[in-house]
Parts: sequence; C-alpha cells; structure tokens
Amino acid sequence: MSNRPNDLSSYWMPYTANRAFKQDPRMIAAADGMFYKSADGRDILDGTAGLWCVNAGHNARRITEAVQKQVAELDYAPSFQFGHPKAFEFANRVADLFPDGMDHVFFTNSGSEAVDSALKIALHYHRMRGDAARTRLIGRERGYHGSGFGGISVGGIVKNRMYYGSLLTGVDHLPHTHDLTLNAFSRGCPEHGAEKADGLIDIATLHDPSTIAAVIVEPMAGSTGVLLPPKGYLKRLRELCDRYGILLIFDEVITAFGRLGANSAADYFGVKPDIITTAKGITNGVVPAGAVIVSNEIYQSAMDNADAPIELFHGFTYSGHPLAAAAGLASLDTYAQDDLFERAAALAPYWEEAIHSLKDAPNVIDIRNLGLVGAIELEPRAGAAAARGTEAMIKAWERGVMIRVTGDIIALSPPLIIEKSQIDQIFGTLSSVLDSIA
Ligand SMILES: Cc1ncc(COP(=O)(O)O)c(C=O)c1O
Repeated sequence: MSNRPNDLSSYWMPYTANRAFKQDPRMIAAADGMFYKSADGRDILDGTAGLWCVNAGHNARRITEAVQKQVAELDYAPSFQFGHPKAFEFANRVADLFPDGMDHVFFTNSGSEAVDSALKIALHYHRMRGDAARTRLIGRERGYHGSGFGGISVGGIVKNRMYYGSLLTGVDHLPHTHDLTLNAFSRGCPEHGAEKADGLIDIATLHDPSTIAAVIVEPMAGSTGVLLPPKGYLKRLRELCDRYGILLIFDEVITAFGRLGANSAADYFGVKPDIITTAKGITNGVVPAGAVIVSNEIYQSAMDNADAPIELFHGFTYSGHPLAAAAGLASLDTYAQDDLFERAAALAPYWEEAIHSLKDAPNVIDIRNLGLVGAIELEPRAGAAAARGTEAMIKAWERGVMIRVTGDIIALSPPLIIEKSQIDQIFGTLSSVLDSIA
C-alpha cells in the first residue's frame, strides 16, 4: 500500500499538462445537477457536461439508482458466447434512436474503441462481399476520432499523430472546413464551404474509388475546437460516397443523444450514414461505454457471407457490460422522460444570443454555435499559441465555471438541464475572464 496518498506523481494524466497541473491542481470532489464541487468546497458550474458526456446533469437519480441496483444483481457476464438480457434491451433502445434501417449495435467501452471498431467493420464488410481491394480509409484534417491507432490515423490533429510512427497505411484526408475569412461569427452552420466535400473527388481520382472502403467525419467536429459543417456539406459528402460505393461513417461520439437538440446529428442534418460511432452521452458518462450502429445491409451481409460460425472476429471483454447497459437504459429513460433533447432545441436560440454577446470582448476572432454547443476563438498570443486559452480556462475555474479549451478556442457544451440563469452565469463569467486577459 502506498504511504503517500497526497503525492500526485503516480497518475500520468491524459491529454493534460501534467507538470503544470501538479503544481496547481484543479481537483474535483463531488458533483450534483449542474455543479461540480471543488476540493476546496467551491461550486463550479459545469459548462462542458464533463467532457461532452453528462447530458442529463450529474448524479441523475434514475441513473445512479439503476447502477447501484445492477451491481448487486449481476456485476459481470462474459460477452463472448454468452449474453445477459439488459445488453439486448439496451441495443434495441439505442437502435430506436438512430435513423431507420440502422438497427444493429456493436458495444464498446469508449469512443476510441467505437471508431476503431467501425473502421474494422467497414473493411470486413467489403472483404466479405468480395470487394477486398477496398482498404483505404479517408478521414479529415482537424478531425478527432479518439486515441487508438485507427482513430489517430484517420484523425487530423497533428500533435495526436506526429509522435506515433507511420500509423495505419492507406489513409488519406479531406480538407477541413474551417474558414474564418468567409464564415466568422456565423450563427448555426456557416454559409460557405459545401464544396470542400469535393475533396473526395480528388482523393478518389488519385487512388481510384475502387480502393476506398470508408470516409469518416464528425458531422460537427468538437474536440478540434467546434468546427461546424457548412450548409449542404454533409449531403454532398453522402452523394459522393454513394457515387463511389464508399461507406460513410459519422463519428457521433459527442453529437448523439441530444447535443444538437435531436437524437443524433444524422437526424438533425437529415443525412443518413452507413455507420455511426457513439459513446459519452450513451450512459450520461456514468459508466464507460460506446457503440457502433450499423445499417441493416452491413449487419445482414456479415450474417449472410460469414466464412466461419463467428461472423466478426472482434470484441471486448466489457462489450455490453451489465453496468453500462443499466446506466445506458436509465440514461435513455431520463432523456425521454425529461424531454431533454427537446429542451436543448428550445434553449438553443437563447444560448446563441448569449454566446454572441461576447463578440466585442478582447481578442475574440470568432464565435460559433449549434444546438447547445458553442465556441469562442481567441487570437493566439504572438509566439505563445494556446497561452490565452489556457489562462481563460484557469481563470474561469477560479471564478466558478468549468470551460474546455483546445489551443486558443474555448468550447462550451453544458448539460442539457441547464437553466437560462446558468447560461447567463457562464457568459457573464467569461466576459469578466476575457476582460482580464491581455
Ligand atoms: C468525435 C469523437 N470521437 C472519438 C472520441 C474518443 O472518445 P473516448 O475518449 O471515449 O475514447 C471523442 C472524444 O472526445 C470524440 O469527440
């Protein structure tokens, strides 16, 4: 047993400036509703739903109780060659929330695993159909698809890729869609940039379309700093994938389960992909879980063309874990019974007005929003990229609001239970924070 309980050195924190954090830790002790409680006893308003996951707010009673009950009833059941009823019920309930004809769900434990699973399922699908030359995977610049080798290969965030060797081979990237010259201070989806989807024509011409298995994009890119799809962009991408026989994967790890005021981004934008990856809100962040939702065509093809009794040689010890299933079912109940997706849609116009009220704050070069998502992009300090963003995050924490920053972009995505007065608190605090940063 360690005799150094207050020593912070053992825990190597993910995507964190460990040295800086351990000098001046931001420690969270408890959470309820819209608020965290810091270790020094302060209430911190959650402007980010944790990490885009706590859509129903913290300590949501039905979810907490369902998990407590489940752990005492069935703590674990093997997921290979055995099942338990809640995993099947959960899959049915998840499938009900996604577009018609996407009725099959493969469970994972995280978004990263969902992404790597989806990429494998796409390759498997083509191979099983006898189209084995389709092996290329296409992502997008500035995309974030988690931290697995598949995800960082199709992802487009340089620091997440550059240290890790040659990654997956046979990957190419679409151009990103972020264009502040044309689209700064857009409200909702920007007007300009649908033609960026035509990058797929160039890629298909270069490699020949018959070698491309799948395109993966976030319908709304979150982790790279909230990049919204230009109007018409996703529809155009769907048309091009159809033209070339390429599967379209939407990575909905943050957009599914109400973030945009709809079941999913596919639903919100009216564009149906072949595969959807998700996680986070699927269990309200209470138990780690993720999922891949596939079209009936993909599932049926695996069942019909299998060359072995096991149709897909892929899975996880904790796929469909009983606690995840219980938390997930209770989360979906909570979302439905409390009309949280409708609530997000109804609050979106108020949110939009509130965030755009910071237009004239110092160093702000863009503000953008969609559903209950918002971003405030700050001019980077000369020679010190990310310094302003980091300072804003620390000052907001000190003043009682949790925000998230990617470089110099502040990203906001509160729990869907937020009240208007709490929206005012977020932007009132941010206004004073930005005024205090040189
Ligand atoms: C679009 C997207 N994909 C994948 C992931 C990875 O999810 P996880 O951290 O659960 O592995 C994230 C996480 O933020 C994400 O936003």
